[in-house]
Amino acid sequence: THPETGNARIYEATASAPVNIAVIKYWGKRSEALMLPTNSSLSLTLDQDQLQSKTTVRVVVDADGKENDAALWLNGNREKLSGRVTALLARMRALRVAKEAKDASIPHLASKPLLIASVNNFPTAAGLASSASGLACLAFAVNAALQLELPPADISALARLGSGSACRSLFGGFVAWDMGSKPDGSDSVARQVASETHWPNMCALILVASATQKEMPSTAGMQTTVETSPLLQHRIQAVVPDRMVAIEKAIAARDFDSFAEITMRDSNQFHAVCLDTFPPIFYLNHVSHRVISLITMYNQVKSKSNGRKYTVAYTFDAGPNAVLYLLKEDVAEVLRLVNSYFPNGVDAASGSAVDEYYGLSKQFLKAGSKTVEESEKALEAEVSKGVKKFEESGGLKRIIYTTIGDGPRILGAGEAGEDVSLFTDAGVPK
Ligand code: DP6
Repeated sequence: THPETGNARIYEATASAPVNIAVIKYWGKRSEALMLPTNSSLSLTLDQDQLQSKTTVRVVVDADGKENDAALWLNGNREKLSGRVTALLARMRALRVAKEAKDASIPHLASKPLLIASVNNFPTAAGLASSASGLACLAFAVNAALQLELPPADISALARLGSGSACRSLFGGFVAWDMGSKPDGSDSVARQVASETHWPNMCALILVASATQKEMPSTAGMQTTVETSPLLQHRIQAVVPDRMVAIEKAIAARDFDSFAEITMRDSNQFHAVCLDTFPPIFYLNHVSHRVISLITMYNQVKSKSNGRKYTVAYTFDAGPNAVLYLLKEDVAEVLRLVNSYFPNGVDAASGSAVDEYYGLSKQFLKAGSKTVEESEKALEAEVSKGVKKFEESGGLKRIIYTTIGDGPRILGAGEAGEDVSLFTDAGVPK
C-alpha cells in the first residue's frame, strides 16, 4: 500500500493490447540476445474488442527484502517468468533507476516487487497466438506502473525483447517492423504505416482449424530454419525487400489486388521455408490446404463478375488457422461459401453453439434476397467444379470476424476510474 494514502493501487496500471497478423512474415533472428530479425515484416493490427490481452502490473511499494522480485499469473494460473520476461523487466527497471537517480523527489519503485496478471479475451483453445498481444501489453502496463513515460516506439523496442512480433502490437492499423542494420539493434523498430481508419473496408475472417498435432513453437522453429534452410537466405536477400516496398505502396493506394497477391505469396513462401527447414516443419494441415484451394477457386470465379483479380487473401502463421483479409462488402458471400464447404453441424443447432461458432460473423449469415441466393448458388456450383467439399464435419472449430483496430490502451492507472484491476486490494488475482 501507498505509505501516505494506504492505497494499494496507486502504483498500478491495467492495459490492453491487440493481436497482429502479419502479411509479410517475420521468421528468423540474426541475434537471439537482442531479438533482431533476419528480415523486415508487416502486419495488420486487429480490433481489440474481439481479440486482446489485458494485463495489470502492481508495484508492491511496502514490501521489504524482495528486491527485483516478480510474480506472474496467466489466465489465472501462477506461471514461472521466462528468461525473456525477466530480461524485459530488468531493462524497464533499469530505466526507472535512471529516472530516480535524476530526480530524488519521485517514489522509489525501481527495485520493488511486481505483481503481474494477464488474461486473454479469446479462448486459448482457439489456437491463436497470444505472445504478441501479451508481451506488448506487459511492456505497455509496466511503462505506466513504473511511470516511465516512454514513447510508443521505445515501448515497442522493449516488447520486442519479449517476443519479436510483439513490437508490432504497439501500434494500430498497418505496421511495419524494419529489420535495421545496426549491430546494437537501435534501428530495428516498428512504425505505423497507416492508421486503423486508413482502409475502413478492410476486415478479417479467422477460420480456426482443428489441430490434432501440437505445433513446433515459433522460437525453436525459426532457429532451425535459420540454421538449415537455403531458401530462407534467398527470401531474406531477394524477396522480402521488394515485397515490403510493394505492400506499403498497395496499402497507401488501398489497392486490394496487389495487397492480396503479396499477402498470399508471402504466406506461401513462409510455409515453403518451413518445409525447406531440415528436419521440416509443418504448420498447415489438410484443412488449411482446402481453404487455400477454396479461396483460389473463388477468386478466379469471382473475378469474372467483379473484374477484380482477388476478392480474398489468405495468410497462415505458425499453425493451421487461416486468416482471411477481405473487404466488408464481400464478407457475407465468403462466409456462406465457407459454410457450404466446411459442414459445421451448428447451423441446425440453436443458441450458444451457434453463437460460439460464429461470434460476430453471425450478423452476415442472414439470408439474402432471392436473387442473391440464386447468384450465390451459381457461384458455388462454379467453384465446386474446381474444389472438393470438405467431407467431415468439424474441420473448422469457429469463425472470428474482426476489423482493423488501434494500439494498446491504458484502462486504468493509479487511483482513477472504475475498477479494472485484475488484482484484489490484497494482491490476489481475481
Ligand atoms: C509466423 O514473434 O512468436 O507469426 O520472436 O521467437 O517470440 P519470437 O517469435 P514470434 O514469431 C512470429 C512468427 C509468425 C510471423 C509474424 O508474426 O510475423
